[in-house]
Amino acid sequence: MRGPFRLYDTYITDSQKILTDRPVKFMSYRIALLPGDGIGPEVTEATVNVLEATGVKFEWVTHSELGANAVEKHGVPLPEHVIDSIREIGIALKGPVTTPVGKGFKSVNVQLRQKLDLYANVRPCKSLPGIKTPFKDIDLLIFRENTEGLYSGLESYDERHDIADSIARISKAGSQRIINFCFEYSKTHGYKKVTVVHKANILKLTSGMFLKLAQEQAVKYPTLQFNDRIIDNMCMQLVVHPQDYNCIVTTNLFGDILSDLAAGLVGGLGVVAGANIGEKYAVFEAVHGSAPDIAGQNKANPTALIRSGEMMLRHLGETKAADALHDGLVEIYTEGKYMTGDQGGTTGTVEFAQRLAERVKSHI
Ligand code: NAI
Ligand code: MG
Repeated sequence: MRGPFRLYDTYITDSQKILTDRPVKFMSYRIALLPGDGIGPEVTEATVNVLEATGVKFEWVTHSELGANAVEKHGVPLPEHVIDSIREIGIALKGPVTTPVGKGFKSVNVQLRQKLDLYANVRPCKSLPGIKTPFKDIDLLIFRENTEGLYSGLESYDERHDIADSIARISKAGSQRIINFCFEYSKTHGYKKVTVVHKANILKLTSGMFLKLAQEQAVKYPTLQFNDRIIDNMCMQLVVHPQDYNCIVTTNLFGDILSDLAAGLVGGLGVVAGANIGEKYAVFEAVHGSAPDIAGQNKANPTALIRSGEMMLRHLGETKAADALHDGLVEIYTEGKYMTGDQGGTTGTVEFAQRLAERVKSHI
């Protein structure tokens, strides 16, 4: 185990391994770069600049066509060559991609997670100094099942009776692996508490199975405090005393909702990172979407994707670089001079990244 987000050695593909296993420092990491749309290209460029300031060498393999612009060019929102490229490289850094609401193509983000079997969506929500929030010392880590549940894509419309179905299909194996991931992570990283979030009182079969599997797993981890919360109560608990919770494991939709809620507790979507982890591949992306309301205006806060980049560095075993990035970020926020619009400041995306890159270099 080299960094907090490294659970399996198989994350790094053979081509990466040849590089990382060299006794001397390797030349560079190949990373698939998917800038996405909306604010995606802006925050991606900012993140690349900050990551490069750590001195770690990257070879970026950029795929700009995803979502609507890929539909125009290739007829599909997620072209097969992009998936193949990520499979070959093993690791991707991704900006957000817009999904049409209530119609149009299936989410590129959901498709990517399913096709690459990125079953663990890990979303740390930890207080940063200098950000004005109602609570201090929040350290939440949400483990969201990323491939099943209400996002399975099993939807149908009965024209005759005007009835719509969206099926929340979950499997025992699919539930077990995210639950295992959460417990193992919590134990190996010194966390004290695990909470499983469900709605097993109503959804007795799906949520019921998830709860039962988590209860069985908890018995194998006697050093971790374990409890369960029903989703609606959990939302209330998190906005009243969030410090009582650490690691939260839950199904796809509940995890999606809870992670935005938890982001709100520590400064909003502009500052919260995320990682999609599977047995073979890993895609690092922020929790936020394409933010069309501020896109193309140099207003987006790149912190969220930069912190996803920090997770990627830890995953690669580049702990020193990740620590330098983290220290630079803490310094910038503590000082409070270069805040983006979402944090009440006027600093643009580009300048924020430049200032942060300078700090990162000073910590290397
Ligand atoms: P959103 O996350 O794009 O925006 C919600 C609010 O947060 C907006 O007011 C936005 O300006 C603000 N915000 C988000 N990121 C920010 C940042 N980095 N800096 C400053 N402010 C930021 O969510 P919304 O509006 O629900 O979704 C917009 C589009 O993004 C939709 O098409 C949705 O499907 C897509 N989406 C894509 C995701 C992905 O690619 N992983 C994840 C979530 C949404
Ligand atoms: Mg979401």
